[in-house]
Amino acid sequence: MVERSLGNPVCILDMSFGVKFSLISLLLRALFADSSHSNQVVLLDTTAVLGELGWKTYPMNGWDAITEMDEHNRPIHTFQVCHVMEPNQNNWLRSNWISREAAQKVYAELRFTLRDCNSIPWVSGTCKETFNLFYMETDESHAIKFKPAQYTKIDTIAADESFTQMDLGDRILKLNTEVREVGPINRKGFYLAFQDIGACIALVSVRVYYKKCPFTFRNLATFPDTIPRVDSSSLVEVRGVCVKNAEERDTPKLYCGADGDWLVPLGRCVCSLGYEEMDGTCLACRPGFYKAFAGNIKCSKCPPHSFSYEEGSPLCHCEKGFFRAEKDPPTMACTRPPSPPRNVVFNINETSLFLEWSPPSDTGGRKDLTYNVLCKRCGADPRHCELCGGELRFVPRPQGLVNASVTVLDFTAHANYTFEIESLNGVSEMSSFSRPVTAVNISTDQGGPSLVGVVRKDWASQNSIALSWQEPEQTTVAVLDYEIKYYEKEHEQFSYSSTRAKALSIIITGLKPSTRYVFHIRARTSVGYSSYSPKFEYETGDETSDMAADQGQVLVIVTAAVGGFTLLVILTLFFLITGRCQWYIKAKMKSDEKRRTHYQNGHIPFPGIKTYIDPDTYEDPTQAVHEFAKEIDPSRIRIERVIGAGEFGEVCSGRLRTPGKKEIPVAIKTLKGGYVERQRRDFLREASIMGQFDHPNIIRLEGVVTKSRPVMIVVEYMENGSLDSFLRKHDGHFTVIQLVGMLRGIASGMKYLSDMGYVHRDLAARNILVNSNLVCKVSDFGLSRVLEDDPEAAYTTSGGKIPIRWTAPEAIAYRKFSSASDAWSYGIVMWEVMSYGERPYWEMSNQDVILSIEEGYRLPAPMGCPVALHQLMLHCWQKERGHRPKFTDIVSFLDKLIRNPSSLLTLVEDIQGLPDSPGEVPEYPLFISIGDWLDSIKMSQYKNNFMAAGFTTLDSISTMSIEDVRQIGVTLIGHQRRIVSSIQTLRLQLFHIQEKGFHV
Ligand code: ADE
Repeated sequence: MVERSLGNPVCILDMSFGVKFSLISLLLRALFADSSHSNQVVLLDTTAVLGELGWKTYPMNGWDAITEMDEHNRPIHTFQVCHVMEPNQNNWLRSNWISREAAQKVYAELRFTLRDCNSIPWVSGTCKETFNLFYMETDESHAIKFKPAQYTKIDTIAADESFTQMDLGDRILKLNTEVREVGPINRKGFYLAFQDIGACIALVSVRVYYKKCPFTFRNLATFPDTIPRVDSSSLVEVRGVCVKNAEERDTPKLYCGADGDWLVPLGRCVCSLGYEEMDGTCLACRPGFYKAFAGNIKCSKCPPHSFSYEEGSPLCHCEKGFFRAEKDPPTMACTRPPSPPRNVVFNINETSLFLEWSPPSDTGGRKDLTYNVLCKRCGADPRHCELCGGELRFVPRPQGLVNASVTVLDFTAHANYTFEIESLNGVSEMSSFSRPVTAVNISTDQGGPSLVGVVRKDWASQNSIALSWQEPEQTTVAVLDYEIKYYEKEHEQFSYSSTRAKALSIIITGLKPSTRYVFHIRARTSVGYSSYSPKFEYETGDETSDMAADQGQVLVIVTAAVGGFTLLVILTLFFLITGRCQWYIKAKMKSDEKRRTHYQNGHIPFPGIKTYIDPDTYEDPTQAVHEFAKEIDPSRIRIERVIGAGEFGEVCSGRLRTPGKKEIPVAIKTLKGGYVERQRRDFLREASIMGQFDHPNIIRLEGVVTKSRPVMIVVEYMENGSLDSFLRKHDGHFTVIQLVGMLRGIASGMKYLSDMGYVHRDLAARNILVNSNLVCKVSDFGLSRVLEDDPEAAYTTSGGKIPIRWTAPEAIAYRKFSSASDAWSYGIVMWEVMSYGERPYWEMSNQDVILSIEEGYRLPAPMGCPVALHQLMLHCWQKERGHRPKFTDIVSFLDKLIRNPSSLLTLVEDIQGLPDSPGEVPEYPLFISIGDWLDSIKMSQYKNNFMAAGFTTLDSISTMSIEDVRQIGVTLIGHQRRIVSSIQTLRLQLFHIQEKGFHV
């Protein structure tokens, strides 16, 4: 059933194809049925067009359109051309106008068969095996006249497989698929055109599409369909919207990559209070359950003595008579006030009363039990009691007692006291019931002193009053001393003072002139205090009352002050003269000592390994340069060409002659004229550092020129320049073993530096140089200067300049640079090497890089990266710097891989599922269950906590925060940290595997 709409296809069929179109149609249906393109938006698909296609051919007898109906009576549009016998063919087929829609970048997928010219007799010279694909963009959607000159060529299309007469006989259909990028298209739409120049082609389908990152859910946020940027190296940042009943924890973001893939999930949403996560949505907690925190935790059963009747409860309410204190967490059971204290006993001796009791039988379910002791004095009628006032002393205190006992001092003899002991807890305040108290009556009738009687004023001056009194009458025991309490009459409520006297009189000083004071006195004996005397009021004198005495005092003070000052001057002069020389000698000794022991970051030198000395510890930087670098006579240097520019001047290549030795190629860094002393010192600091090193993977210093101009640093020449640009230039050219060899060299250089106690701070592929044998050497030394010079270094909030993408989080946050932070940077260098110089974190902003690292995101494995290497990278990027590998571990790990290359065969993209994952790298295992994982981090004791909280898969724990871990009952902070740090590492593995479409 062939419908001929254009030209005459019969002869073509007869002559060249002999293909049954039903065969093509079946093949096409099968092909399209199982191909899913979730991230493609189709603009045209000839297999899906039901009516006429309406494409144009020029000339009319060039291409033929053949439309066959399939078993469902749907048309299959095919275009054929086969004028292989005739020379100078120029047959055009043009599509209809295709709208670009939202696309920025469009792709055309062509499926076609092509006849092998050799299999057609007598056609040599005229038969071709390619055709050309063209496009023309235009805003006009209506058909416009076809003018080939207006079309732009996209490509010449050749077949991967052409078919022969034999294939036809055997009914083998060799269908080719080619995809080409069209555009960029800036107008509203475009035409496609196919130019045949004498081939035998059947174009069986054309599919035109653009790519998008499809609508997706991630971390409880939705992300809309997003069109990638035209520029394939830049990502589109997309903010997610939290699903219903979820809220932002950190702004959820994804980046849309050029291929329509979502990358780098940042931030997340979490289910709100009263809601828990279930299959990517937030469901309300059932009645009887609650969730008090927003977060990825499950709803919990209401704690004891509480209830929730509604769905979605953030909190359970307390049963009647039970309460929750302000600071009680919602997870805690509701509690009630305690019962009263029991079994009060007391013990009174001459001066102290000791009260003790048993804790209440019911603590109310709380641990914050305290006691208050209240003292009352009661007369004969126990109903008439008054509070004891301030005369008693309670040790440790009368209220808020934690222990069930108190000592009472300073009580009065011959008195009746009632002590009420009250038990309290954190919810006592909330209860409207009266307080539970236990009372005890105590009489201190032990023959203590009676009252002090009248207190007299003997005299008063401006600031003093002299008082005297009689001994109490009923003293069976000796009075030890008297306590005199006094205060300003006007300010009684604010404060009072007290003093003691052994005699029966006292002069109280330090009083205000012309002020009325209240005094009362009590006696202290070995059996306690007497009651206070009645209150007596006396006034101090005015200005005229005691001038002479005051003047005398002033004189004494002035004399003492003058004498003291003179002594001070004499002593100071003495110390200055005798101490100065010693101070100078000590300072000098200190600076020498410091230089000898100035190791970076507390580095302790390895026995037998030289230690790096910071050139800044030399007062004279020139001395440091000459200690570590040879002075070269400039006549021995021949500069040949400029190879780069540094902050201080040009970098040149050239030759260095050394008498008796072969001339060697060198790189020469120059210090440009007009420098200030500080720049010269900074420039030469690098030589002072480099000159201390001697290792095959550290750039070798040949010497310096400091005695003539220009000042120069001469180092060995590295033919392949810096590693990052070298890799970019040779993208994909090396074997994995070659790349690992480079990484091994860098690690070995870094091990040497860290053994010497040198912290690089700017380890990055741009600071590694490569020679003609692919040997990599660490270069760019000089600490702050290097960072000033590094275009990647950005200012942080702490004011330092730091290459964010390469730097460990603790170094960014609080400048904690160490060999462990160098190990982090090494991991980034590994990633740069394995991705052939890709920029770490692509076009993400520095701020997003910091945020994503904090969130636990780590760079995924570059394409073609062995699992073992990516795991080593992840190991270097552990948040806890103590968990990162040492450079010595890295070197031996890489050595093992090199010795056993089969360990590098498993690429990250090859992992087909974790249970079967190779496990050839025992140091860096991937886990398969929560139990395994907890065992591996020695936290097996928490298996039940995870299970009980519903965390049964590794997926489910991947977003747990320290708070979530605490919530499930891990109370020790050290354990919380260990678990969360491991989750972060695990998350990277999970993330990466999920990105690749595998499931754990
Ligand atoms: N660029 C900077 N230093 C270099 C060196 N030592 N060799 C080659 N190129 C360089």
